Amino acid sequence: SSEEVLDNNQSNRAMAFKEWAQNQMNKDSEPASEFNATQIPRDYVKSKGPGRALAGKVELPSNSIFQDSSDPKIKRTVKIDRSQDLQTSRMLLPVTELEQEIVETVLLNPITVICGETGSGKTTQLPQFLYERAFGSKGSLNPGMVAITQPRRVAAVSMANRVGSELGIGSPKVAYKIRYDGNTSPETAIKFMTDGVLLRELANDFLLTKYSVIIVDEAHERSVNTDILIGVLSRVVGLRNKRWKENSESMTPLRLVIMSATLRVSDFTENKSLFQQQPPVVNVAARQHPVTIHFARRTSPDYLEEAMAKTIKIHKKLPPGGILVFLTGQGEIDSMVKKLKQRFGRKHQSKAQVTLDSSRLSKSNAATGDVEIEDVDFGKSDDPALELDDYDIEDEEEDLGEESGFEEAREDESTSPMHVLPLYSLLPSEKQMQVFEPPPDGSRLVVIATNVAETSLTIPGIRYVVDSGRAKERSYNEQNGMQSFDVSWISKASAAQRAGRAGRTGPGHTYRLYSSPVFENHFEQFAKPEILRMPIEGVVLQMKSMNLDVVDNFPFPTPPNAVGLSKAEKMLTNLGALTSTSLTQAQSRFKITELGRSMSLFPVTPRFAKMLVTGFQHGCLPYIVAIVSALSVGDPFLHEEALKAGLNDDDSEDARQAVRKAYFKTQQKFASLGKNTSDLFKVLSAVGAYEYAGGGEAFCRANFLRPKAMEEIRKLRAQISYLIQSTYPSIDAKFIPKLDPPSQTQVKVIRQLITAGFIEQVAIRKDLVEESENSGKKFQSCRGIAYKAVGIEQDVYIHPSSTIFTEEPPGYITYTEIVSTSQAYMKGITSIDVSWLHKLGRSMCRFSKPIDVPANAKLQTSNTKKDVIVEPFFGPGRGIKLPAVK
Ligand code: CDP
Ligand code: MG
Repeated sequence: SSEEVLDNNQSNRAMAFKEWAQNQMNKDSEPASEFNATQIPRDYVKSKGPGRALAGKVELPSNSIFQDSSDPKIKRTVKIDRSQDLQTSRMLLPVTELEQEIVETVLLNPITVICGETGSGKTTQLPQFLYERAFGSKGSLNPGMVAITQPRRVAAVSMANRVGSELGIGSPKVAYKIRYDGNTSPETAIKFMTDGVLLRELANDFLLTKYSVIIVDEAHERSVNTDILIGVLSRVVGLRNKRWKENSESMTPLRLVIMSATLRVSDFTENKSLFQQQPPVVNVAARQHPVTIHFARRTSPDYLEEAMAKTIKIHKKLPPGGILVFLTGQGEIDSMVKKLKQRFGRKHQSKAQVTLDSSRLSKSNAATGDVEIEDVDFGKSDDPALELDDYDIEDEEEDLGEESGFEEAREDESTSPMHVLPLYSLLPSEKQMQVFEPPPDGSRLVVIATNVAETSLTIPGIRYVVDSGRAKERSYNEQNGMQSFDVSWISKASAAQRAGRAGRTGPGHTYRLYSSPVFENHFEQFAKPEILRMPIEGVVLQMKSMNLDVVDNFPFPTPPNAVGLSKAEKMLTNLGALTSTSLTQAQSRFKITELGRSMSLFPVTPRFAKMLVTGFQHGCLPYIVAIVSALSVGDPFLHEEALKAGLNDDDSEDARQAVRKAYFKTQQKFASLGKNTSDLFKVLSAVGAYEYAGGGEAFCRANFLRPKAMEEIRKLRAQISYLIQSTYPSIDAKFIPKLDPPSQTQVKVIRQLITAGFIEQVAIRKDLVEESENSGKKFQSCRGIAYKAVGIEQDVYIHPSSTIFTEEPPGYITYTEIVSTSQAYMKGITSIDVSWLHKLGRSMCRFSKPIDVPANAKLQTSNTKKDVIVEPFFGPGRGIKLPAVK
């Protein structure tokens, strides 16, 4: 079991290591595989070999919902000829031993759960078992396709290729379909796809009539799509089989198989609203070699340098065997691949520079130090000392006693080249496939991967794992409603999975780039399901776009908060993404609108999606993309505290003054575009200026910007532009880093587009609110001017940092966030014209008595209708047409 494998018991580990080292000594370069084909006894091959399910008969009991047919013409098996080699390697997979049991369970039950360690053969073998049982074959009882869903595109493509070649039939018989790509045809019998693709198909064919079995793979990952998929399928399977019972002429049965890499499947199996009857669970025994786990003594925030150092160390000092490094994303991976290739790639061998560049290390602000358990911090550390020696494997393992022993290992490996490969979701599929090929003779395979290598893909020959302990996770800031992908700690379960990757071929080692106290105290036992880490309105919009209109009693494996669900429906209605088709007030059904459908194509929070969808008007798209990117990344401006930190103690008062002056000057400069109208133009100006200057740290330093944030914003702009371009071919959204300053008209349009996105977050000056008790009161300064924000009880105020923090602030504003200190302050403010509201926020307006505007209020109001330039998209006949979707 995995607990055994990951046993931290020192003596066990020492033993395992000794045994392994001994093996190395004796065997020299022969791979140490316990399951060497030659060791398998012949009779085992006969009795337990693959294809056993074809020989074994399945008697369907009379009470089974599935009936058998006595018609001899019905096709029951499909014969596949595989090479002896392939048969032998299939036989080594733990699932083949259970082939008969698995096939029987699936044949007898509408829903089956299969648990088995990563690499046990679930993904590659299950579809084959079923295919050989005539699933997906015309003339059989189950002629519909075999579908296998994956949370990741990488896995869908590479597994389709693998299964195609194992069956010797290839595409289009075995095909894949991912968004924007695929090779399916009417001939397809086995179809790999992302869970998103199947969800979209469900919107058009709720009974999934093209399929005979749906295998939901990697269910343990608990991605939103997988969760929703399992919820829907729990109903679809029942409905489809009911239809089939009623009319077996026109309908065939449907089965669901849920596959998971962990045993923790109770969210599925014990969830009464999901499955009234607990589905049977088939457990595939793990076949793992021991893996020794090495914790780092300290936890450095700079895991990239650490991963680099550790990988080089392993390569130089340890015996042959692949190295798998877990990082968080494409950028990091590409850069590490490049560096390693430069130093250790085949071509660059002569120039190989195997010492670490310690000057760079110590300059890096992410210096390490003893990170106390209390203050783990990815961003900074105040101990500047970084001694390279700290990272010697030998040194670190002194504590672990016995099993250091790296001295015993051969030291002459440093000359062998590395075969370095990246692995992440957006990598072209032919590049992805390279990880499955053996490395060139004499070189060491080094794969730098995201957590796609955690459970989705098993890379052969890995003996060492370097685990950064981090992953990019979708997270959600409840305060400002922003969604982002942030680097954060993985769960203990994930860490165990990663460690396990080292023990597929033989005994292995996992180097964790974090200390055991950090692991114990900061790692959750299991990752939270994604559905709980996402703004609920995003989930609701996604579901509505799949025509899943009833969200409040949807059978979620882990249900989100019910109040949140109905709030989200209301918000989406106000954004114009849903429309209420109420029969009665209590029974209203919110259905998606055309605008909502367009919004659902963007993986950003719905209000940003709305700004992007509507943003193409008057050439404003590039500005909206920049604003949305900036809001997603977070504030790129250094603030006064940071300013203080930038000053040295021995700086003269004059020098300090000069810095302060320069700071406020740049702030003013950036704010001038949106002076008195919108704070969001400040960040737009900063982005524009930064790109005109050609980017760079120097510009950021001179203008008090965070270089990392500015880089992130640029990356996100490029990504979003690409996304728009691929979604709406008719719109020119090509990414050009440089932005021309917006025209006066555009400035206004941008404010309106911001209003369209933040229509929920409108505030009205309190002295303009009719029933306000304060209306007679005189105000000395705007500090006293309170606002009434829609949906918020307490008074809110303009944050002093805002450009509209003036004597006479506007009557109507939108804000992007509220920060609460002694009072609730609005930030990210944009002044709006009251006449925009009824057009952009129709569903929120109640037209009663006209608002009485005090004569002395110098408000920028204009009641002329033609002043509204942005067109909203409410309903057919009103507003303008949305661009065509690809
Ligand atoms: O799904 P599960 O993790 O249980 O295992 P799998 O993905 O079906 O992998 C079974 C075996 O096939 C592993 O040992 C993989 O390394 C191997 N495999 C391969 O060699 N080449 C591929 N393209 C895919 C899998
Ligand atoms: Mg798998």
